[in-house]
Amino acid sequence: MKLAVIGTGYVGLVSGVCFSELGNDVICVDKISSKISMLNGGEVPIYEPGLKQLIAHNKEEGRLSFTTDLTEAVRNSDIVVIAVGTPSMSNGQANLSYIMEAAKEIGQALNGFKIIVTKSTVPVGTNEKIRDIIAEHSMYPFEIASVPEFLREGTAIEDTLHPDRIIIGAATEIVKETLIELHSPLTNNIMITDIRSAEMIKYASNAFLATKISFINEIANICEKVGADVTQVARGMGYDKRIGHSFLKAGIGYGGSCFPKDTQALVQIAGQMDYDFKLLKSVIEVNHDQRFNIIRKLEAILKELSGRTIAVWGLAFKPETDDIRDAPALEIISSLLSKGARVKAYDPIASKNFSNVLQHECLEYCNNVREAAENADALCILTEWNEFREISPDLIQSWLKLPNLIDGRNLYSEEELKGTQLIYYSVGRPNMNNGIKEQSPILSI
Ligand code: UDX
Repeated sequence: MKLAVIGTGYVGLVSGVCFSELGNDVICVDKISSKISMLNGGEVPIYEPGLKQLIAHNKEEGRLSFTTDLTEAVRNSDIVVIAVGTPSMSNGQANLSYIMEAAKEIGQALNGFKIIVTKSTVPVGTNEKIRDIIAEHSMYPFEIASVPEFLREGTAIEDTLHPDRIIIGAATEIVKETLIELHSPLTNNIMITDIRSAEMIKYASNAFLATKISFINEIANICEKVGADVTQVARGMGYDKRIGHSFLKAGIGYGGSCFPKDTQALVQIAGQMDYDFKLLKSVIEVNHDQRFNIIRKLEAILKELSGRTIAVWGLAFKPETDDIRDAPALEIISSLLSKGARVKAYDPIASKNFSNVLQHECLEYCNNVREAAENADALCILTEWNEFREISPDLIQSWLKLPNLIDGRNLYSEEELKGTQLIYYSVGRPNMNNGIKEQSPILSI
């Protein structure tokens, strides 16, 4: 099949490349000419393991190309995929201006029957607006469909080529049949539904996963008070098939380009229909507050943060990405700086992106773990990079001025900490706190 993919962000680029890997002819389009030049020159604007090689392979096979010319791309395709961004506006609502602009340009470019598929995350009812705009600008027949994307950064290719399910929201047989044929090499688990339900499935899925994270983070906070271990609790809960083990890792809260944006947007969508989505509002609030546990723990050990040097390992919102959008590290480091601390930060690949948005005279970006930790009053681990796991607590202690480690991602096991003199705080594992004076209160029944 011949595809034009509009937008070369995470969703557009990875989907386009994976569709070409399946043997389709794909033209990826972006308005930003520097991105297209990079892609044509063999460079990739985002960090995603395996993507560069897959792009090179499919370009070589002649199935994949990049252009700024949307009209030409649309005219040479049977299926047009909209994968432009839907960033949050200040009130949390999704900004649909890129979507509407793309719909207008697609309408103007049509030269015959095509199927227009939306992969961007859009509020319920948006595909119908897309249809209206295209119809306004085109004399040719077309059909629309909603096929939401569930890929995760860092495992985007694997997620796209081996998805748990494909959701196709479509109204006519021709669209259903064509899109089943396009996606059937990926999985047998294809669900056909109506367009509005497909749009809602994406928001509901992200909101549910975010809810699991905030839930386990609150359980972790209670574990710290009652003397239980949240990793054991999550493990025990996960054996129940109805609950499952995934997305029950306690930490410093979720970040990234999807969960924060989509949870806010769903609260707005509900609000516009006069529905107060209380549960999701609490999920967002819990997530925001969880970040500051790092600061509270630092203050419990150091009392005053002013004049202290705090090392931070991990700036990306999760490992295997250089994405810092809504990364908990942004607010945590800003808070440390506002309290008068000096911060020495290190991330294997996200420092450049981070320094583009956060510069401060008391914030130093370091070249390696040791440089960041050396002579610091405490070390905070904010992202669970494997590189950090390999460094022993004893080595960390030898680098630090004061032996304080705040582990926001529960990187170290009890075994690894045995014998260390580090004062160690993790998340929801009070029994492993080492050197902390207060005892957890014992509850009487
Ligand atoms: C997410 C969804 O998983 C994906 O389906 C959707 O298409 C886009 O949003 P992504 O943002 O790439 O993907 O990352 P994900 O691996 O889901 O993690 C999101 C955040 O949740 C990260 O900050 C991560 O650290 C946090 N998280 C995840 C936890 O704190 N605990 C967990 O158990 C899982």
